[in-house]
Amino acid sequence: MYRLIYKSESVDILDWEQVRDILNHSEQNNEHAGITGTLLATEHHFLQVIEGKYEEVNKLFMTITHDLRHTNIQLISFDLIDSRLFAGWGMKGLGLFDVNSEQVQALKQKYGSRLGELELPLENWQALSLINDLNMMKDLPDWKRH
Ligand SMILES: Cc1cc2nc3c(=O)[nH]c(=O)nc-3n(C[C@H](O)[C@H](O)[C@H](O)COP(=O)(O)O)c2cc1C
Repeated sequence: MYRLIYKSESVDILDWEQVRDILNHSEQNNEHAGITGTLLATEHHFLQVIEGKYEEVNKLFMTITHDLRHTNIQLISFDLIDSRLFAGWGMKGLGLFDVNSEQVQALKQKYGSRLGELELPLENWQALSLINDLNMMKDLPDWKRH
């Protein structure tokens, strides 16, 4: 089992509609390929964790890198793992579009900010820590509830 994490820059300003669009379309593909993970979106950036078999993770990442909806794709990590962190979720969507909320302010303090936006980390453990923090925040919206 492998886990790949990357970060990228969105071509358009992101909102729930676009994230939902990607995820709705991905659901069947991911299920079929045994892929799980998380797609985190801010107004301008994506951070995605992809877990699954080596070939499937590789293949999906190649497809995603050719997607014109984002650019400046930076690979953060590609590791052999014992077990999934996001089992049972398919691809979970997390959105941070309300940049002034108290939670986002706290995250900016912890992880840093750039041009007023939460800066998405470029390190494996920080990326996972951020997603963990987000999952602990009870009233943060996720796409399944939208
Ligand atoms: C940020 C981002 C994340 C994506 N994540 C996934 C994903 O997890 N699974 C998936 O199948 N497609 C994902 N896509 C879409 C793929 O790039 C591609 O459009 C899609 O897999 C094509 O599916 P189709 O061949 O069924 O049309 C993502 C696209 C973007 C921009």
